[in-house]
Amino acid sequence: MQTNFQTPEEIRQHIWKELGRASRDRHHAWRTPVLATAADNGLVNARTVVLREVDATLGKLVVFTDSRSPKVSEIGKQQTALFVFWSSRLSWQLRARVNISIQTSGPEVDAYWQQVSHSAGAKDYLAQTAPGSACPDPAKTAEASPGIPHFAVLSAQVTELDWLELGRGNHRRARILADRWEWLTP
Ligand SMILES: Cc1cc2nc3c(=O)[nH]c(=O)nc-3n(C[C@H](O)[C@H](O)[C@H](O)COP(=O)(O)O)c2cc1C
Repeated sequence: MQTNFQTPEEIRQHIWKELGRASRDRHHAWRTPVLATAADNGLVNARTVVLREVDATLGKLVVFTDSRSPKVSEIGKQQTALFVFWSSRLSWQLRARVNISIQTSGPEVDAYWQQVSHSAGAKDYLAQTAPGSACPDPAKTAEASPGIPHFAVLSAQVTELDWLELGRGNHRRARILADRWEWLTP
């Protein structure tokens, strides 16, 4: 599907509108992007995450995770990361380069945890062992410890968007920064 958005500002606005929708609509394809991070020894790592909140004005994306997960230590060492989104409805791929800050305490984290703690997803942050650690019995992974949640909020500040639209006859691609814009060869 080739969209009617023509000007850079129209496309930028529509990207952020779709990101906002994705954070509220569990069926939106952009709800579950891939987050790629730099790992030790020049390696890379990537995994699916849920987009929990979007602030279009601040250019911010929010993801929740277990504070013991490898991605948290990777981001602690290299805060530059990349989200990759694909929507077949829009025929849009979006790559968002971000700088991520990790929060594990404070009023913002408490407010998010208040929401999560009443949901079925709360157990994801109460597991007895850390994500990626050896698991002798997968049947017991659902067992949560009653202790403190290992809950972390990843706040990703978008620094650059790489937008690709697949059209029937024509593809379009653009690099979008806060104050600049350029068309690229797809
Ligand atoms: C659809 C889907 C959504 C997921 N959402 C999250 C999420 O929001 N946060 C998260 O930490 N892991 C999420 N995961 C699990 C991650 O993909 C990953 O397996 C886990 O976080 C461990 O990643 P790491 O070892 O790179 O830290 C999700 C997985 C799937 C399949």
